[in-house]
Amino acid sequence: MKTENGRLAILTPGIGAVSTTLFAGVEAIKKGRARPIGSLTQLGSIPNRSGASTSIASMLRLPALKDITFGGWDIFNDSAYEAAEEANVLDRDLLRELRRPLSAIRPMSAVFDPRFVRLISGPNIKKGRTKMALADAVRRDIQNFLKTNRCARAVMVNCASTEAHLPASAVHRTLKSFEAGLKANNPAISPSMIYTYAALREGVPVANGTPGQWAHLPFLAELAAETQTPLAGCDFKTGQTLLKSILAPGLKRRMLGVSGWVSMNILGNRDGKVLSDPGSFRAKEISKSNLLKSIFDGAKHPELYGDFHHIVDIKYYPPRGDNKEAWDNIDIFGWMGYPMQIKINFLCRDSVLAAPIVLDLALLLDAAKRAGRSGIQDWLAFYFKSPVPRSGPIDQDLAVQAVSLETAIKEMSSRLTAGRRP
Ligand SMILES: NC(=O)c1ccc[n+]([C@@H]2O[C@H](COP(=O)([O-])OP(=O)(O)OC[C@H]3O[C@@H](n4cnc5c(N)ncnc54)[C@H](O)[C@@H]3O)[C@@H](O)[C@H]2O)c1
Repeated sequence: MKTENGRLAILTPGIGAVSTTLFAGVEAIKKGRARPIGSLTQLGSIPNRSGASTSIASMLRLPALKDITFGGWDIFNDSAYEAAEEANVLDRDLLRELRRPLSAIRPMSAVFDPRFVRLISGPNIKKGRTKMALADAVRRDIQNFLKTNRCARAVMVNCASTEAHLPASAVHRTLKSFEAGLKANNPAISPSMIYTYAALREGVPVANGTPGQWAHLPFLAELAAETQTPLAGCDFKTGQTLLKSILAPGLKRRMLGVSGWVSMNILGNRDGKVLSDPGSFRAKEISKSNLLKSIFDGAKHPELYGDFHHIVDIKYYPPRGDNKEAWDNIDIFGWMGYPMQIKINFLCRDSVLAAPIVLDLALLLDAAKRAGRSGIQDWLAFYFKSPVPRSGPIDQDLAVQAVSLETAIKEMSSRLTAGRRP
């Protein structure tokens, strides 16, 4: 199989449960100790005209796992091995076998602001007179990482703690106003915005896996277009929202009514702790709420969804760690309005669901950049709870999103095969 030349760096702000589960998984797969379940780029294929299938990896000349180097930033000094031990997602014996490569991944110092993440603090933090100075420091980190690790290209996937929600303001409107804000230390600029600004300025594609809605801000679309760099977000679509995007469109296609959907979950990892702060929870609530609202369109179908109620609740419950338990109660009604209920009890593993998404996003964004794509990549909506639109609204039906993902892959494949750039 032909692959793109040169090593790829996958850089994650946040070396926590999700990112270390990815790093450890890739190391375990390289050793033949695990399989890449849940990853389209590793296991997926697309049928061609003759009826045979071609793997996505060969269509896009994706780098082999051995040609990927991981790095990142965190407010704690722990290596990826120590962070994975702390996250307590993976089997300890397997983790010990991966000690050497994981211990080699040491966090670069983070851009951090306790006003955005209130319930944790750590020592590994950058100092800078202005937010522009911090952005410049992240740019130097990226340049040094590429040089030291002999990587040809990089992708950033934000896996840091959920930042408190902040409504968009004038500073976020244009690239010019944002850059002035960086120089003036505008308080409405969060660390995630600084990482993303720095990466895009370096021509490094960015995916926002966190619930923060900043990837929707207009100045970033402008910067991504100006630097000809792909950008996508927000919030990995993993557990309850993944199931909603599968189930809700089916109910709608059968013209069944839905009067309410209550989603509750308990989780006890560090992400759950951060989300117990009302500001961070608000970001998650916004991100999780959009999907059903757009599928159950009460204006178009008032008889089915005109009085639709949606509740989302997350509780921090330490005994469960990363092994989240989620309950969904769905109140539906059918022929002549007779009510029925659906109950879902999902005992999931948060980071196990998220890790393959990080890998896919990184490899697909790198392919997008190689194929000459830039700006908002809305075909990656398949992976996000709150996808950033490029123009017009995004269909939240997972099946529809899978088709646009496939279409984009085919289009990129023909560009890459022809060696053309737009
Ligand atoms: N696991 C899932 O299923 C899932 C799904 C959707 C979204 N997410 C989001 O992904 C993100 C990561 O989740 P996780 O479970 O790995 O959380 P985690 O708490 O285990 O890891 C996040 C890490 O980010 C670090 N951090 C905080 N602020 C930082 C900053 N400014 N710069 C660099 N590092 C910083 C923390 O120290 C921590 O190590 C969260 O925002 C979470 O909401 C997770």
